[in-house]
Amino acid sequence: MLELYQGNCREFLTHYNGPKFDAVITDPPYSSGGATLSERAASTAEKYTSTKRCCPFPDFAGDQMDARSWLHMMADVLSSARVHCHDGAVLVAFCDWRQLPLLADAVQWAGWMWRGTIVWDKMSSRPQRGRFRQQAEFAIWASNGKLPIDRPVPVLPGVFQAGNVQGVKRLHQTQKPLELMRSICRICVPGGRILDPFAGSGTTLAAAELEGYDSIGVELSPDIAKTASERLQTDLRYIQEVHYEET
Ligand SMILES: C[S@@+](CC[C@H](N)C(=O)[O-])C[C@H]1O[C@@H](n2cnc3c(N)ncnc32)[C@H](O)[C@@H]1O
Repeated sequence: MLELYQGNCREFLTHYNGPKFDAVITDPPYSSGGATLSERAASTAEKYTSTKRCCPFPDFAGDQMDARSWLHMMADVLSSARVHCHDGAVLVAFCDWRQLPLLADAVQWAGWMWRGTIVWDKMSSRPQRGRFRQQAEFAIWASNGKLPIDRPVPVLPGVFQAGNVQGVKRLHQTQKPLELMRSICRICVPGGRILDPFAGSGTTLAAAELEGYDSIGVELSPDIAKTASERLQTDLRYIQEVHYEET
């Protein structure tokens, strides 16, 4: 089962009353991509793509916050998501090097037990003389309370190598590689239920489906949600309809 909603994940999580989740696997807007406030406030195309103003993908939301706002937003979403998770559910949340300390704070503030940091080695990056390459992104992983040692989940790597998505398969400015997300999803108990509150083009949901999990995704941008729906060939549901059904 795969469901995709268009709307704000904070509202979705406030009103959600479905079955509990076994994992939250997500790639939030990083609100990063610059060393100064004005650089961070640039459009996501300017920050994250080499094509910049003629970028073929829509800009996405939630990426211009300052550090405190982003910390607050992430703590809020991760805390609301945890309420809808089973004991022992797993969280995997991506970030870049700039947001790693804030994300670690948000995860713990939200009541998750921080268990480690995973490295995504993108295997390439813009070369800059006299500097280390920025060729990795990170994901913090955590559990909702104790994580039983006898879960039927194999030993998983702590470093994943996967090149960025290129060509016709690219649908989103910051799309994650499908193989990367398939590997990450395997941290969830077999046949479990995965939530991605920041679904983007739906890579986590596609990966979950291919790995035999149920999943629910939420995406704020109508254009991006439509793209994800077409990619996943699934109905797009609307948060407003969720509210409407409740009243
Ligand atoms: C980094 S992208 C996710 C990309 C995704 N992993 C993929 O492979 O396509 C983050 C997404 O979260 C969406 N977003 C930002 N704030 C949101 C919110 N409050 N609720 C739901 N989606 C949100 C953005 O529009 C963006 O598409």
